[in-house]
Amino acid sequence: SVKSFHSSSTSLHGVKHVGVLGAGQMGLGIALVAANVSKLPVLLLDTNEAQLNKGMKFMDSLLKKDVAKGRLTEAQAEETKSRVKTTQSMADFSNVDFVIEAVSENPALKANLFRDLAQATPKHAILASNTSSISITKIAAAAKGREEQVIGMHFMNPVPVMKLVEIIPGLATSNDVLRTTKDLAVAMGKTCTVSQDVPGFVANRLLMPYINEAIIAYETGIASKEDIDTTMKLGTNMPMGPLTLADFIGLDTCLAIMKVLHEQLGDTKYRPSVLLNKMVDAGWVGKKSGRGFYIY
Ligand code: CAA
Repeated sequence: SVKSFHSSSTSLHGVKHVGVLGAGQMGLGIALVAANVSKLPVLLLDTNEAQLNKGMKFMDSLLKKDVAKGRLTEAQAEETKSRVKTTQSMADFSNVDFVIEAVSENPALKANLFRDLAQATPKHAILASNTSSISITKIAAAAKGREEQVIGMHFMNPVPVMKLVEIIPGLATSNDVLRTTKDLAVAMGKTCTVSQDVPGFVANRLLMPYINEAIIAYETGIASKEDIDTTMKLGTNMPMGPLTLADFIGLDTCLAIMKVLHEQLGDTKYRPSVLLNKMVDAGWVGKKSGRGFYIY
């Protein structure tokens, strides 16, 4: 309707085209929600063509499920699909107003990408990172001349299901950029919270020590893994117990975040458990590898 057109265009402060960088689990979910819920055209960039194809296939299967469940009509699913275009070249980001980066958690990779994004995108474009633990201020410093427009936009996995987006302004982020980012998150159907740019922000500052403590409880024989999970799942109404959740997130990711907390906060309470380190060394990193605390 005309009314909703006006309200969405004013509340989005001119954000008309979204670029998503990285077609993994998170990037794909973000692209889907941007296209399906906020109804914005999305350009999904990944240098790996196989990853792009895999991502688009997964998006297709999620949309088919929504049609089967009566949440979307076939026509709406087609419209959503038509809003998502793919590319392997950042040069195609010359027309985006808002970028959400969701590549793997590698500080050097992110620094390089933000340096390039600062060149490839229009001067007004906001550059958001879905990092879960890298300093936004550090990422912003790599985007020379665009520091005020860099912000953290931390989605939770699985993106289409989880309602939260944690928003993290860096030291230089402007209030306008914070406001536009919040409005985009709301247009994507999410509730947002704001965190200081500190290791782990809020979500992982609380979640990872909890998971790590569950691994220590298992490692020291306090209870079986099943009993640890059942205790927390049924005892505190969590959708998953902590060891199942660790497998779901990926033990490599959990370890990387614990290391950031430990190194940057310096407190031994954040020390990653010996078993967590060993399991990552063994390649038993959870659901994605077929084995973690459980077999998949
Ligand atoms: N992508 C999209 N949708 C997905 C999905 C995925 N990867 N995985 C599951 N879903 C959907 C299912 O399709 C299903 O949708 P319908 O209702 O349309 O059928 C819905 O989620 C529920 O799934 P299931 O019925 O299969 O299983 P469930 O009820 O056990 O729910 C779950 C699965 C949503 C993952 C739930 O177990 C849960 O909420 N777990 C906790 C997840 C969590 O804590 N996430 C945060 C991790 S931390 C993080 O992301 C931050 C970080 O930086 C590490």
